[in-house]
Amino acid sequence: MTEMFPTVRMRRLRGLKLIQETRLSIDDLILPLFIDENIEVRKPISSMPGQYRFSIESVVNEVLEARSLGIKSVLLFGIPIKKDEIGSEAFNKEGVIQRAVRAIKEEVEDVIIIADLCLCEYTSHGHCGLIENEKVLNDPTLDVLGRIAVSQAEAGADIVAPSGMMDGMVKAIREALDNEGFIDTAIMSYAAKYNSALYGPFRDAADSGYNFGDRSGYQMDFSNAREALREVELDIQEGADIVMVKPAIFYLDIISRVRASFNVPLAAYSVSGEFSMITAASENGYLNREEVIMEGLTAIKRAGADLIITYFAKEVAQFLK
Ligand code: PBG
Ligand code: ZN
Repeated sequence: MTEMFPTVRMRRLRGLKLIQETRLSIDDLILPLFIDENIEVRKPISSMPGQYRFSIESVVNEVLEARSLGIKSVLLFGIPIKKDEIGSEAFNKEGVIQRAVRAIKEEVEDVIIIADLCLCEYTSHGHCGLIENEKVLNDPTLDVLGRIAVSQAEAGADIVAPSGMMDGMVKAIREALDNEGFIDTAIMSYAAKYNSALYGPFRDAADSGYNFGDRSGYQMDFSNAREALREVELDIQEGADIVMVKPAIFYLDIISRVRASFNVPLAAYSVSGEFSMITAASENGYLNREEVIMEGLTAIKRAGADLIITYFAKEVAQFLK
């Protein structure tokens, strides 16, 4: 016989920290940062109140501050001065990300640098791959991704994070890194990245909007869940060390299913739209900012994410103190 009321009373332990199943920790959080080669001082991002584009100089201070708050890892996006058809600034030794990584590594101890690895901020057309007749080409893009990975590793990136959803990208990047001796540079793959309207504010932040078409030819349809498991499985087979689901809060089912099916570290990216929705609502007094942030991020962990990429990382560091 199973015990029942009145013997069993769920309220006896309700709210006790002792029985808390999920705990958010500062160790889980990754702070995304935008570095703009065109500017000298940091510049606010209008679609993401409280977030900035940093200059190479000012990003060093930002990482120092994040580090002092207990944040151990940052994800870097670069905005170059010069864009061209093939995004060649992305693999320039003196490119914005390469310089920023070196500057940060020089000044900040004990920080894990993750470099976003994609073409969209570097191409004149704004797409995540090479283009022919307004189509994003898969295979020719892979060589370029390999070159970018090597140049980021050379600069000192600990982890590269390919975000362009090209087939075979993880394999190509692993081979390129290994060929150059970067066997310890890890790959965090945006394995299940959905074609989401929640990236809207980011396109303004990272200047990565596109001038024709959309990203539905490479990013996933938000109607699909089983396909995400295939994407993740393939990326693991190709050598991904960490896999990612993106966005996060609308995609908790995907996070949960990936967690149940695979045993690699799982990251979730709580994207710009998630940040901006919560920010707008809290600025209007519609909801309590701290409570919603903590509930949202805890839900992402509860669903099964090990790591969370969030623009709220610095705030959460304060909340957790
Ligand atoms: C581009 C990229 C995007 C994001 C990260 N890398 C935008 C896109 O795919 O259009 C979105 C991040 C965010 O919205 O916070 N490869
Ligand atoms: Zn891209």
